[in-house]
Amino acid sequence: MFASSMSNATDMVIHDVTAALDLDGVSVAVDVGGSTGALVQELLKKSQGLTGVVLEMPHVVDSAVEAASKAGVLDRFSAVSGDFFKEVPAADLYLLKMIIHDWNDAECLTILRNCRASAKPGARAAVFDCVVGKTGEPNYGALLDMNMLVGSDGQERDFDEFDALYAKSGWRRVATKPTRSPQVIQVLEAI
Ligand SMILES: C[S@@+](CC[C@H](N)C(=O)[O-])C[C@H]1O[C@@H](n2cnc3c(N)ncnc32)[C@H](O)[C@@H]1O
Repeated sequence: MFASSMSNATDMVIHDVTAALDLDGVSVAVDVGGSTGALVQELLKKSQGLTGVVLEMPHVVDSAVEAASKAGVLDRFSAVSGDFFKEVPAADLYLLKMIIHDWNDAECLTILRNCRASAKPGARAAVFDCVVGKTGEPNYGALLDMNMLVGSDGQERDFDEFDALYAKSGWRRVATKPTRSPQVIQVLEAI
């Protein structure tokens, strides 16, 4: 049920994301904690030369394979059972949708550093999360921040907090794109 709810949340941003992400030069995209893989599977439909991977917990991988089959992209898709705190498969593009906000700073650094450690030359990462702080707009992120405080070890972050994590883990934010949902797309380059 949780995986289905995450796929539904992904549906809200799928068009903004596929329009915003530049897939030029990307051969392998890894959806880190990608649930059943809705995001990377949409990118696979868009780019015929792309190979997509979901890194997930063991109990999720069968559902991800089933979803890829339904989406007609199974021939270029694999689901890896693993732990993003230990290792992340190599990629040109890492997708981290609603992952960073689940964890405290030390845990986020481990995830981001594991992506950096396996990054192919010229790799990018795309972080999808709410951004709190002085956005000048009404922001659902503040409510989600309280939710994370109660239900997890995570939090929503402002841009300074995100950038501090990126700098400490070998990434640099190079672009920021809004979506029609509360989530913002942040594109990172490996440095
Ligand atoms: C908030 S959900 C986001 C799912 C997906 N990225 C999306 O936005 O629809 C977090 C995901 O991280 C996965 N996850 C949690 N701990 C993990 C770990 N140590 N290694 C790999 N995946 C993990 C969960 O199974 C869950 O699917």
